[in-house]
Amino acid sequence: MKYRHLGRTGIQVSELSFGSWVTFHNQADVKAAVDMMAAAYEAGVNFFDNAEVYAGGKSETVMGNALKKLKWRRGSYLISTKFYWGLHNNVNEKNTLNRKRLIEGINGSLERLELDYVDLIYCHRPDKTTPVEETVWAMHNIIEWGKALYWGTSEWSASEIVQAIEIAERHHLHKPVVEQPEYNMFERRRLTGDYERFYKDYGYGTTIWSPLASGLLTGKYQGGIPENSRGSLNGYDWLKDNLTDKEKLAKVAALEPVAKELGCTLPQLALAWCLKNPFVSTVITGASRVEQVHENMKASEVVDKITPELLARIDNIFGVTKEEDDD
Ligand SMILES: NC(=O)c1ccc[n+]([C@@H]2O[C@H](COP(=O)([O-])OP(=O)(O)OC[C@H]3O[C@@H](n4cnc5c(N)ncnc54)[C@H](OP(=O)(O)O)[C@@H]3O)[C@@H](O)[C@H]2O)c1
Repeated sequence: MKYRHLGRTGIQVSELSFGSWVTFHNQADVKAAVDMMAAAYEAGVNFFDNAEVYAGGKSETVMGNALKKLKWRRGSYLISTKFYWGLHNNVNEKNTLNRKRLIEGINGSLERLELDYVDLIYCHRPDKTTPVEETVWAMHNIIEWGKALYWGTSEWSASEIVQAIEIAERHHLHKPVVEQPEYNMFERRRLTGDYERFYKDYGYGTTIWSPLASGLLTGKYQGGIPENSRGSLNGYDWLKDNLTDKEKLAKVAALEPVAKELGCTLPQLALAWCLKNPFVSTVITGASRVEQVHENMKASEVVDKITPELLARIDNIFGVTKEEDDD
């Protein structure tokens, strides 16, 4: 496993990390979580991603229980959580980054994770109604109290992040240091164009999500929705159209010979492709079973085999021209 600095921070994250969205509690109980986290950790993963909203808080409970059983040294791994949607459908408690919610949010997460602190906290989405200054101060205070060590953003625009950084700099507060955007062969918006310049200028890190587009890039949806896949889960109907989109499936089929030439599987190729982007600090992988973790962790071995010519071939398959990518 290789490690990359999280932006300009002193912390290094494994280039492949592991997250619990959809899977923990819904598909994986504590035992399965222990098995998958252990497989990832043994492969060198040092960063485990979570959010208070995942499975309504139960994903954090499962991860907390798993960590207790795994008994790893606290210094050897990083845990994150995120706030925005909240756990209660109530005024001041949903879709917000207000100070009260963030403070109550971190306290609840630490309780469910059974940890004294988390390493990273994210504002899971921008909040257009709370003054950014209020959010920046709350994140700063959470760090000052030792409940988290670094903070970041998820799916914020470059200008929103710059605003937060400038407020923090003006008041000598802890700045946000990392963005968590979706990034995969289909979804490239937040790591191209203006963002590239932003990441370069500010040295902002990225922990990217859904590198397999929820499984679409594994090729498993070519013959319809398989049983026990994310696409078959109750409550995830909104994903089905995307997972069975004919045009997208044709692009995935065109990738198969590329993977074959490299002697790897489609998931490994899709993960390694994300790692080719120098602005990616870590690719957060997801898995519903331990075999997937073993397969995905081998993606690191594929990265050096992907040449600029091959990247251009993949761009061609996805209908991305260089100019478009650079917009
Ligand atoms: N910040 C945000 O807004 C945000 C949003 C989403 C996710 N995230 C984070 O990013 C993490 C990863 O996202 P993701 O779970 O969507 O990632 P993904 O890699 O796009 O999808 C993972 C899913 O694909 C399937 N899969 C994985 N490896 C496979 C393999 N080798 N062969 C076949 N199927 C395989 C599994 O689902 P099945 O086996 O069930 O089909 C697995 O749960 C999350 O856990 C979370 O921590 C953050």
